[in-house]
Amino acid sequence: MKASSQSAVAIAHPNIALAKYWGKRPYGHNLPAVPSLSVTLAGMATRTKVAFDDALAEDVFVLNGSEARGESLTRVSGLLDRIRKRTDIGTKARVESANDFPTASGLASSASAFAALAVAASAAAGLDLDRAVLSDLARRTSVSAARSVLGGFVELRAGKEGDEDLPATEIAAPNHWDVAIVVAVTREGPKDVGSSEGMKHTMQTSPYTDAWIERAPALFERVRSGVIDRDLSAIGPAVEQSALMMHAAAIAADPGILYFTGATVEAINAVRKMRKDGLEGYLTIDAGPHVKVLTRGADAERVAETMRAVPGVLRTIVARPGPGAHVES
Ligand code: DP6
Repeated sequence: MKASSQSAVAIAHPNIALAKYWGKRPYGHNLPAVPSLSVTLAGMATRTKVAFDDALAEDVFVLNGSEARGESLTRVSGLLDRIRKRTDIGTKARVESANDFPTASGLASSASAFAALAVAASAAAGLDLDRAVLSDLARRTSVSAARSVLGGFVELRAGKEGDEDLPATEIAAPNHWDVAIVVAVTREGPKDVGSSEGMKHTMQTSPYTDAWIERAPALFERVRSGVIDRDLSAIGPAVEQSALMMHAAAIAADPGILYFTGATVEAINAVRKMRKDGLEGYLTIDAGPHVKVLTRGADAERVAETMRAVPGVLRTIVARPGPGAHVES
């Protein structure tokens, strides 16, 4: 296929892991060391346009209106190269990507960005790839992005020696379970240590790495059955332990990586007090200071109100299960 100017637009949504991924295998291409399970969120989206254009000498990446270079352009070009390899397109591309949610919301991970890019770039190249191939393409650039290709409740197994392809799979559709994620935003502004860098440092220097890798699969299994059974009380403790164990491993690195601020700790305590007071919700925390609370859909507004009263919580975002990445029609 010869490209002159071919373009496509895709939409993808962020996801929050209920069983965390943290750490890569030392072999293979970007294989996760532990299994993870996430929920893809509606209401927030990354919209990405990819145009292959013979007139370009290099790939161009425009993020939220400004041209990006360095590491982010390298990651974008890496994914485009994998698409180009599947076709006879040698042409460079212009990628324009924008988030309709605040970049400092703690939800602006690379997940929705690379899921949208994989879908838009393959459509622009005229490829009709199935979800598993798209998920694997995204995973090779960013592991959590493999999960945002799918909608609803999504799992990604750990990589093992010899694995070539490792796509995420949907274990339940968005309407399977009426839950919400309440994000308590505790800081405006970028995080200190990015997740790729943070997990690499953890794997290399934390004495708790082996314990994390050994224990994470059992937590994943508990989260997985709780999602299938729609059992919040069963899933909750495993969700919290997965996040806190991941952070404990990072904190024990040399030097330790602490994503928490004072407000994070206040929010953790508030979730536990809220539960004692009879409102059920369980926390998770990613590579940043924000606290995300998994709760029943019907309780989401009350949980958000509780979280807004916590000192240091600036605002809340209520998100619900949503669809996978798709080409904009
Ligand atoms: C804490 O997927 O951003 O959000 O694979 O290096 O791109 P790379 O890392 P990334 O890590 C996400 C880590 C996490 C937990 C999770 O989403 O499972």
